[in-house]
Amino acid sequence: MPVNVRSNNSEVAVSVMRLVKKYKDVVAVNDISFSVNKGEFFAFLGPNGAGKTTTIKILCTLIRQTSGNVYINGYDTIRNRKDVRMSIGLVFQDPTLDNDLSALENLNFHARLYGMNRESVGERIDHILDFIDLYDYKDKPIKLLSGGMKRRLEVGRGLLHSPSVLFLDEPTAGLDIQTRINMWDFIDKLRKEEETTVFLTTHYIEEAENCDRIAVIDKGKIIAIDTPSELKKSVKSKDGNVPTLSDAFISLVGREVRGEAGTAIDRMRELNRVLRR
Ligand SMILES: Nc1ncnc2c1ncn2[C@@H]1O[C@H](COP(=O)(O)OP(=O)(O)OP(=O)(O)O)[C@@H](O)[C@H]1O
Ligand SMILES: [Mg+2]
Repeated sequence: MPVNVRSNNSEVAVSVMRLVKKYKDVVAVNDISFSVNKGEFFAFLGPNGAGKTTTIKILCTLIRQTSGNVYINGYDTIRNRKDVRMSIGLVFQDPTLDNDLSALENLNFHARLYGMNRESVGERIDHILDFIDLYDYKDKPIKLLSGGMKRRLEVGRGLLHSPSVLFLDEPTAGLDIQTRINMWDFIDKLRKEEETTVFLTTHYIEEAENCDRIAVIDKGKIIAIDTPSELKKSVKSKDGNVPTLSDAFISLVGREVRGEAGTAIDRMRELNRVLRR
């Protein structure tokens, strides 16, 4: 039986210490340390290949770090994997719903996976369907829903087992502006009503702007971590204009377009390995 290793600070939802992840000769995450407080809305903002998804996958126990420690609600992601999985919800960068099943069937499947109580699960599913505004569509196959509806369902599924920390890896990528705005209203509601800690990765500066704190990540390193207003204050104003978050971001990471070190085949292999575990 693994020993439950809990860190002491009950105010901290996520604690990351000296985390390193190497894929052969690529150092995807290069010795990062940070923590996220309970109830906080926290963002990883960084260019392509910065190490955002890799970090989230380690925090969610999908892959193992090369070195360093991660605690979620005090549980060690390696020694207490099951406890960590029960306390988190995860919405992936790429869609993972079963397209041939209905919204209701997808949620039921998730509930069984998490061993949720059969008697109370129906009520919880109804509440979630209502919360994500999809109650009237619950019996439709997923393939008939719009992109925004599918994303809402992914988030709803991530919330079904009432996790205290919700990880969202680019939840609005590929959605139109209206759907993105709706999605943000919805995440706002979620934070108020479910008091969930939200850990988000994004490329969109305006999304990071709404967060309590932002970690700017590039080439596997956290290069700044602060509130949006403090990050803006850290750059010199140009021509007397008040600096924007975008100015701060560009002054921290530069304008160079990032290349991708790992190949698509490497990523597919790794995903297949995770799914087979
Ligand atoms: N399975 C893998 N095998 C080899 N290299 C990988 C693998 N997964 C990621 N990488 C590499 O690790 C680095 C970090 O990738 P990661 O996907 O974590 O970045 P990201 O910040 O999520 O980028 P994006 O914004 O494009 O989603 C990149 O150089 C990437 O090519
Ligand atoms: Mg990513």
